[in-house]
Amino acid sequence: MTKIPVILDVDTGIDDALAILLTIDQPNLQLLGIACVYGNGPIEETYRNTRSIAKVLNIKVPISKGSAYPMINKILHSREVRSLKDFGTLKIDLDAEKHVMLASAMYVKLLGETIEPVTIIATGPLTNVAHVIQNHPELLPNIKAISFMGGSLSVGNITRFAEFNAYSDPEALNIVLNSNLPLTMAGLDITRSTLITSKDILKKVKTPNPTQKIFIDLIDFYTEKNKHKENLEGIQIHDSFAVMAVSKLEMFVGEMKPITVNISKDERRGEITVTSEAPNVFVLNTVTSKSMINVTVDSIHHLEVTP
Ligand code: BDR
Ligand code: CA
Repeated sequence: MTKIPVILDVDTGIDDALAILLTIDQPNLQLLGIACVYGNGPIEETYRNTRSIAKVLNIKVPISKGSAYPMINKILHSREVRSLKDFGTLKIDLDAEKHVMLASAMYVKLLGETIEPVTIIATGPLTNVAHVIQNHPELLPNIKAISFMGGSLSVGNITRFAEFNAYSDPEALNIVLNSNLPLTMAGLDITRSTLITSKDILKKVKTPNPTQKIFIDLIDFYTEKNKHKENLEGIQIHDSFAVMAVSKLEMFVGEMKPITVNISKDERRGEITVTSEAPNVFVLNTVTSKSMINVTVDSIHHLEVTP
């Protein structure tokens, strides 16, 4: 099978962690590297979370540290609620940092040496990706497409108008939207459609091994938090949609739309609107929530004990 080479750009976070797992479980995806960005927490935390998850999953590709701040303002809107920082059972002793690879260097290396154009799957603020587009136009032919989780064509989740990733760095999203690269958007309109609980996993994974247990506990932990904070019966797996849009686009119904983002400083900052210009983004509209649950359950079912 020919595999689709991908780079993940994440702000790990619970749903990013599941998106990383889903990526390595897809037989037609070949993960080349992971870039981290601030978002669900400050960069030190998302970088650490990513390395923890990568260690659990025995991922050997480069993991790099990217932007600590959005492109123009230095205000972070981190969502501690989805950080792994205070997650009790994920106690991983990470090796002392010998060498930190910067995300910009990783992108230059991986995009520079690739034979086949690479798809970027971005599940956090788009700051790292926008920097690559802006600073390395010579690498654009080596980017096949960008699939991103972000934006909302209905109500937002950080303000009334904006989704969290879009709001965190609208200038970066604006650069991506104007890049002329093939784009796929997994916005809240579709990602809110699916909730998953550990019960869904346990129907198939009857006696979880220790690695499977880590993910089941992670889901339980956040289900409990969500119950109190957001009144939800389960967790949303926003970021997994951006992965499946690359691996199995046939799961979705979507359409090309002309999309723009509000970069003003007013209350509509980060809002996504459909314009009358030429379509620039393939927007995912619908999926059966069962299919997203099934691929998530399968990815945990396939987990073997970490060596
Ligand atoms: C997005 O915000 C983050 O908290 C999640 O990881 C997801 O990428 C949803 O709005
Ligand atoms: Ca995310």
